[in-house]
Amino acid sequence: MARIIDGKALASKLRERVATGVAEFHALTGRAPGLDVVLVGDDPASAVYTRNKEKAAAEVGIRGALHRLPTTTTEAELLEFVQRLNADPAIDGILVQLPLPNGIDPNRVTDAIDPSKDVDGFHPVNAGMLCVGREGLVPCTPRGCMALLDAHLAAIGAGPDLGGKHAVVIGRSNIVGKPMAQLLLARNATVTVAHSRTRDLPALCRTADVLVAAVGRPKMVGADWIKPGAIVLDVGINRTAEGKLCGDVDTEAAMTVAGAVTPVPGGVGPMTIAMLLENTLTAASRRVG
Ligand code: GUN
Repeated sequence: MARIIDGKALASKLRERVATGVAEFHALTGRAPGLDVVLVGDDPASAVYTRNKEKAAAEVGIRGALHRLPTTTTEAELLEFVQRLNADPAIDGILVQLPLPNGIDPNRVTDAIDPSKDVDGFHPVNAGMLCVGREGLVPCTPRGCMALLDAHLAAIGAGPDLGGKHAVVIGRSNIVGKPMAQLLLARNATVTVAHSRTRDLPALCRTADVLVAAVGRPKMVGADWIKPGAIVLDVGINRTAEGKLCGDVDTEAAMTVAGAVTPVPGGVGPMTIAMLLENTLTAASRRVG
C-alpha cells in the first residue's frame, strides 16, 4: 500500500517557517513584506481563491491587499494599475488572478508585472531564468510538488537527486507542466513531458519513477498507468459527477501499485498557497538586498 504524502501537514510547517522569516524581515527593515492581489471581475471561484490568498498572507504576517476591479475594467486601465503597484516600494509581490475577463490579453498583463515582484513566476523573464538554471521566481504549484517529493524522499531515507530516474509530467501548461519539467531536470531526472497528442500515454506513464499528473481530467490515471513503487504527484483539482473533489489520479486504485501518492484534497493544493507566501518573502528579501 502506497504512502500518502500529507500536503496539509507540510504546508503548515512551511507557513510556520515563512512566519519566522517574515518576523526577521520586519525586525531588519521595519516593515512587513507586502503582497498585492488583483481580482478583475466577479468569477466566483477566483473570488474564493483570492480571499484565501489574502487570508493566508495575513496569518504569516505578510501585509496583504486584495484589489477588486470591476468586470468593465479595460486592458489599459489594468496595465496602468499594475504599473502603480510596480512603482510602490512597499509592495514586494504582485499577483493578478487568472482567468481575466474577455478583452484583456493575459500575456500583456503578465508582461507588465515587474519580474522582481512576479510571485506567480509567470513573467517570461522568470520562465527564462528557470529554463537556464538561474535565480528567479518559480511558479508556486511546481515548487509545491517538488517540496512534497523532497519530503517523501527524506522520509524514506533517499537523497534529493533524481539521477537515473525517469520522470513523466502529463500536461504542458506554462503554469505547471513546463516549469515542473525544468525543476525535475535540474534534479538530474530524465524528463518526458506528455500531452494530449502523446501516443499510448498509459504505457509511457508505466515507465515513470516519478509521475506528475496536471491535466484536469478526473481520475484519468488508473492503477494500470503506474509503475510499481512510483511516486505519484496529483496536481488535478476536479469535481466528480456527484460534486465530490477529486484529482487527475484515481487515488484509491493508485495506492495499490504506487510507492507514494499525494491525495486530493490535502496534497498539492495546500502547498501552492504556502509557496506563494514563501515567494513573497523571497521577493521582499531580494528587493532589500
Ligand atoms: N488562477 C488559478 N491559479 C492561479 C495562480 O496560481 N495564479 C494566478 N495569478 N491565477 C490563477
